[in-house]
Amino acid sequence: MNERRVLVAVSGGIAAYKIPELVRGLRREGLSVRCALTPAATRFVSPLVLQTLTGVPARTELFDTDEEGQIDHIALADWAELVILAPATAHSLARMAHGLADDLVSTVLLATRSPVLVAPAMNVNMWQHPATQANLALLTERGVRSVGPESGALACGWEGEGRMAEPETLVAEALRVLGPPSLAGETILVSAGGTREPVDAVRALTNRSSGKMGFAIAAEAAARGADVVLIAGPAALPTPAGVRRIDVETALEMRDAVQAEFANASVVIMAAAVSDFRPARASARKIRKEDLGDGEGIHLELVRNPDILAELGREKGNRIVVGFAAESHDLLESARRKLERKGCDLIVANDITRESAGFDTETNAVTFVWPAGDAEELPLLSKREVAARLLERVEKLRSARG
Ligand code: C5P
Repeated sequence: MNERRVLVAVSGGIAAYKIPELVRGLRREGLSVRCALTPAATRFVSPLVLQTLTGVPARTELFDTDEEGQIDHIALADWAELVILAPATAHSLARMAHGLADDLVSTVLLATRSPVLVAPAMNVNMWQHPATQANLALLTERGVRSVGPESGALACGWEGEGRMAEPETLVAEALRVLGPPSLAGETILVSAGGTREPVDAVRALTNRSSGKMGFAIAAEAAARGADVVLIAGPAALPTPAGVRRIDVETALEMRDAVQAEFANASVVIMAAAVSDFRPARASARKIRKEDLGDGEGIHLELVRNPDILAELGREKGNRIVVGFAAESHDLLESARRKLERKGCDLIVANDITRESAGFDTETNAVTFVWPAGDAEELPLLSKREVAARLLERVEKLRSARG
């Protein structure tokens, strides 16, 4: 539950034989570990051993459909909160320094936005070569952290600097870089999905929301160490690890559930597409066309549902309250009005007419709209990545408030 996620990227050097020990050490600390290997690395350490120790297949190929089907290379890069390149050969450091991306390991290293820790290991002369030193200097300047190498007898027969740092040293450094979970101590209430407003015993008014955005936020918040309560409208999605889920159907049920959890929450994120209207009366029995006159229709009277977010905004106190605005036109203007009217600290606006964004898609293109009116437009991202960017903003708001 709430495990921190570390990707161990292995390049092809003799020190790769120590990687199973590194993986075991990381697992002992309660971290979730995945492995990616270069083709050369598979000659020094068996992917099967790493699969057994991590509980998930070790990835070796960039374009293998089976492997990509499990978790694609960009998803793998996004998944990792820390990437450890160990052993980091002279060649893999050179490729990384120059932004090459022609295999799985180099591609993930280029795609990740998380901290990268490298553990150089090579022959002493290769290590001391100005090319290697210049490459490492470039990487260090870009924020890559390195541990080792240590001095001693090298597998190639030489003595000197070039031994990979010991697995326990790398584990300690990994824990230091990861730091405490960024949302530890927060209780985050997330609403997700659409609501379903009954018309009769079989029919309902609803919308096309799949719940994917809200579920991604809940998963990401739990991974960042928050206590998460997810209030979900009907959604065919699995409950993310470490999340307490409350299922509801109607807007009124969602309001009751949100109100009941609100007192304990420090952050509220309303990603649900709450129905603004419900039928004034729901028939307990199925409305049958046979019961109507020939060609006769029915009139549905709709009444307004409470605006849950606006209610919360009025009572929010020191809580951080985030709303969503799905719009088909006048995106920013409408989002700014909503932010004001609903008392939010931030509105996540998205244009539902854009392809691959909005309802029932895997990706989303959103703009963060702030109380001063500033708008921050994000590129098209996976919903999990949008969740990560959103929670980064929540963390900043929290630390600004002290
Ligand atoms: O007004 P609109 O529905 O566009 O506002 C969207 C935001 O308000 C979302 O965060 C949604 O969860 C919330 N909302 C609500 N209760 C409603 C309607 C919307 O909390 N009845």
